[in-house]
Amino acid sequence: MKYLLIFFSVTVGCLGIAAYVMKHYTNPPCWCWSRGQGMIVTSVPHLVSSQYTSFGSYGTETDWNDPQRIIPLNYSETEGKLVFYQQCVWCHADATPAGPSNRSNVTPTPPLMNDGTMFNGMSDAYLQQIIAAGGRAMGKSAMMPPYGKSLTPSEIRNVVAYMRAIAAPAYRRSSGRIPKNRGD
Ligand code: HEC
Repeated sequence: MKYLLIFFSVTVGCLGIAAYVMKHYTNPPCWCWSRGQGMIVTSVPHLVSSQYTSFGSYGTETDWNDPQRIIPLNYSETEGKLVFYQQCVWCHADATPAGPSNRSNVTPTPPLMNDGTMFNGMSDAYLQQIIAAGGRAMGKSAMMPPYGKSLTPSEIRNVVAYMRAIAAPAYRRSSGRIPKNRGD
């Protein structure tokens, strides 16, 4: 009976300490063996969503000419970035996330999608039209495919918004542009 009493008080005491620890540590200790049996120091995972997204933006793009500069993207620019990396990157960039692009093999060589010198002078309406209708319909090379059937009008608007966001030199709308926190 005496031993049973000691056994119970020790058990309850241990549980009490465990409960106290769980409550007072912000990161409760894991009551299990880690995969490496605690021998391997694991690296802190990247907090992709919060670490690389600047405040007030949905996404970012690294300046193609300056890897140090991160361009914050609004919602439609971020959607446009997805379209770009799915449809256009093979021809309109020198490198893709999957390796080298096809750009140097295409004749005429497609302009880089951040080529502000080329695109800043073209209106949104014109860019949307050539993306939808393709090069041939607009008196340009047929190597520029038409996207009017595979992309929705809003996807085309978004990809144009993305082009504007990454343009170098920076694109400035001539009037009515709401200033964004983009260092301009
Ligand atoms: C198969 C390769 C290829 C793909 C994919 C491609 N383009 Fe092009 N694009 C071209 C070529 C080639 C030109 C140059 C046409 C010319 O100058 O005659 C061009 C030109 C352009 C132009 C400039 C038109 C002008 O008036 O000079 C824009 C804007 C453009 N592309 C947008 C896009 C967008 C947006 C996408 C993705 C939705 C895309 N392109 C996908 C090959 C491609």
